[in-house]
This record gives sequence, C-alpha cells and structure tokens, in this order.
Amino acid sequence: MTDVTAVATGKMPHHLAIIMDGNGRWAKARMLPRLMGHRKGAETVRMVVTECSRLGIAYLTLFAFSAENWSRPTAEVSALMNLLKKYIQSEVPRMMRDNIRFNVIGNRGDLPEEISRELEEAMAFTASNTGLTLTLALSYGSRQEILHAVGRVAADIAAGRLSAESVNEAVFADYLYTAGLPDPDLLVRTSGEMRISNFLLWQLAYAELYFTDINWPDFNRQELLRAIADFQSRERRFGLTGDQIKARS
Ligand code: FPP
Repeated sequence: MTDVTAVATGKMPHHLAIIMDGNGRWAKARMLPRLMGHRKGAETVRMVVTECSRLGIAYLTLFAFSAENWSRPTAEVSALMNLLKKYIQSEVPRMMRDNIRFNVIGNRGDLPEEISRELEEAMAFTASNTGLTLTLALSYGSRQEILHAVGRVAADIAAGRLSAESVNEAVFADYLYTAGLPDPDLLVRTSGEMRISNFLLWQLAYAELYFTDINWPDFNRQELLRAIADFQSRERRFGLTGDQIKARS
C-alpha cells in the first residue's frame, strides 16, 4: 500500500496530465457495450478531479477526446458527447463548491454547438475560481495545435505585430492552446499503452512519464497516489547533472 500521508506531505506535481485509456477494454472484458466503459470512466474523472483538488495540485489536464476520435463509430462519438454534456451540467456546481476553474483546449469549432456553448458557460462561470485548474483536451491533437500556432505566428509576423527574431520558446508557447498553463510535470497513461498519442508534444518536453496497466475505469485513489509517489521518487535533472541539481537544492 502506498503511504498516503507521505505522498500528501511530499512535493506534488504542479501540473498533472493524464491520457485516460482503456475504457473500451474494461467494457469488453465484462462483455458490456463500450459506452459502459466510458460511463465508468466518467466516474473516475470525478474521483481524480476531487482528489487532485484535495491534494493541492494546481493544474490537471485530461485527454478526453482526440482530434482522431472523430473517426470512431458515430454512435460512440454521440455517446461520448452526451457524457461530456452531462458531466459539465452535473459538475459545475461541484467546481464552484471546490473552487475549481474549468478550461478547455483543442479545436472547439469541431464540437457540436450545444456542447461548445455548455463549455463556454462553464468556463465563464468558474473563471474567477482560484483552486485547481481543470483542463479538458477536446478535439485535441498536438500536431494540429503546433501547426495552428505556426500559422498564427506567421500571420502576426506578416502583419508586423511580431518580429521573427523575437520568437523564442516562451513567445511560441503563448500561441499554443495551452497559453498560460505551465508545462506538465507528470504524465500518467493508463491501460498499459506506452505512447504519447499526439498529446501535448511540445509541453511534455521535460515531464516525467508514468505508465500503468490499470484500465481507466479501474484507476482509483490508491493508483493516483501510487503515480504521485513514483513521481516524488524521481530526480528531475532538466539536462543538468545529478550533482548540479543537488547543489541547487
Ligand atoms: C480511451 O479509451 C478513452 C476515450 C477515448 C474517451 C475518454 C472519455 C472518458 C474518460 C469519459 C468521459 C469523459 C468526461 C470528461 C466526462 P478507449 O475507448 O480508447 O479504450 P480502449 O483503448 O480500451 O478501446
């Protein structure tokens, strides 16, 4: 068992990002329709948000729907959109109670108008909350995000609003969907897959990666604490030597 007290008093990842994977396999193993896996997965989302908020994690980013997920069967896409709508409607009061600021990254223009409106309203409603920032990546693809940013940088240079020489990492990061969010410190992926799958490619440059075989619907508080405990045991060097890092701390 992971020592909960030790984890809670240790250094938290400032920004935790999660690729929630394995809903379909969870359902298949139980001979249930895939939608049941997504439904159970939505319950795990509720648990993880509550726990991260309690643990004092500042940013939580969840990969909820990729740009590529639009190619899934229409019925599954509609079911996921429906779940998302229900989630927003049921969770906004809880976000207000827990001081959570809601945020979305991705190509919102791809989403059904009704969903887009719900998301906008939830963001506006929770905008002045100062606790956990919960970001859902929806219709999100990192290569698309980078290309979109490059296009906007090029347009600003062409219009004379930006000089080519002034484009550095910080300036470029401000053109990404994640402008204003710190880079993730820890990326968790469930279900045994060891891929990044077009998620936050720029932002994950120095993140610690943690993979677990547990499917997302089975990911519980103990598993979350285990991932954080593992993060706390790592030495982050950012290209420096171990001795340099020790001398700094
Ligand atoms: C990956 O599992 C999961 C998704 C594509 C969707 C994630 C959605 C949820 C966790 C529930 C709804 C979310 C919110 C925010 C309410 P998969 O379907 O690819 O699983 P598989 O690889 O086992 O088939």
